[in-house]
Amino acid sequence: MTYSRIMGTGSYLPKNIVTNKDLEKLMDTSDQWIQDRTGIKQRHWAADDETTVDMVEHAARRAVDSAGIEMSEIDMIILGTTTPNLIFPSSACLLQARLGLPGIAAFDLNAACTSFIYCLSVADQFIKSGMAKKILVCGVETLSRALDWEDRTTAVLFADGAGAVVLEASEEPGILSTHIHADGRYADLLGTDVGVSCGFENAPNGGLKILMNGREVFKMAVRTLGQIVDETLAANNMEKSDIDWLIPHQANLRIIMATAKKLNMPMERVIVTVDKHGNTSAASVALALDEGVRSGRVKRGDTILLEAFGGGFTWGSALIKY
Ligand code: UT7
Repeated sequence: MTYSRIMGTGSYLPKNIVTNKDLEKLMDTSDQWIQDRTGIKQRHWAADDETTVDMVEHAARRAVDSAGIEMSEIDMIILGTTTPNLIFPSSACLLQARLGLPGIAAFDLNAACTSFIYCLSVADQFIKSGMAKKILVCGVETLSRALDWEDRTTAVLFADGAGAVVLEASEEPGILSTHIHADGRYADLLGTDVGVSCGFENAPNGGLKILMNGREVFKMAVRTLGQIVDETLAANNMEKSDIDWLIPHQANLRIIMATAKKLNMPMERVIVTVDKHGNTSAASVALALDEGVRSGRVKRGDTILLEAFGGGFTWGSALIKY
């Protein structure tokens, strides 16, 4: 049987660190409130001239280095983002040109905060079917450009960064299963106010902003992530105790703790980066995975559960033998 195995991981965070105290100067908020309600202490924002593709290029090169392969061995790029450089060409195509890989398939995928899990699932299908051998899977966001300074409930949450993995076809177990879902009936609860074919002419200064009903999203996220834990374990005939690491989407520490509780997992077995990174949407799980690996906590042979929930609604999980 062919599996998709994670051969290398990489990530990148912009240099500019913005603390909660910094935000206190920009809006009516407090370090105390942000930490109590979200667990966030600081986040990274891209420099004015730094783009989504700039950030993901760093993460991609680091992932390929850590896989110990030549860049030319990559035969597909799948890039998750809600904040591409341009509508088209896709950021995956712009990245492909930077990495010097003309001719290979490259495309963006947008499933909001669940994008990286969706990307892994799609990549896994290409590898299992034999259509690709080594796929660069990326998650990246420049969400600081979509913050609404008038809305303190969202402006303190979202941030920038990039993560990437190299997935390779292998006889050894890697991705054991992926589970992806969506329910568009909840589209109004989390999204942007304008798009290209909708409301563009009303965008202030050509900009867009994130709109979120935080309380409703919170409730749905906790319930749905609990369900997907059960679905993933049942599909693999596994017990909660078989999971070594939970690597969740980093939206809110309280949501992460609720999922850990559902798994009976102590927080020492959960990779938490929301305190340092904020919510980097499509990048968050990839960033947390790289942090888990590079800090030496996640080791070869460990069983890890990745999960995410986001706008759409979308949600998903990936169970992986690392
Ligand atoms: O990544 C995709 C998925 N997204 C998520 O999972 C996010 C899910 N939602 C959340 O994480 C939480 O709902 C938030 C962190 C967004 C908000 O936390 P909450 O505990 O649900 O707060 P709330 O919206 O119920 O607001 C409570 C109070 C309100 O004041 P009143 O009405 O009680 O007087 C808000 O106006 O907190 C106030 N508030 C703030 N105060 C200081 C809201 N934002 C802030 C702020 N600073 N930044």
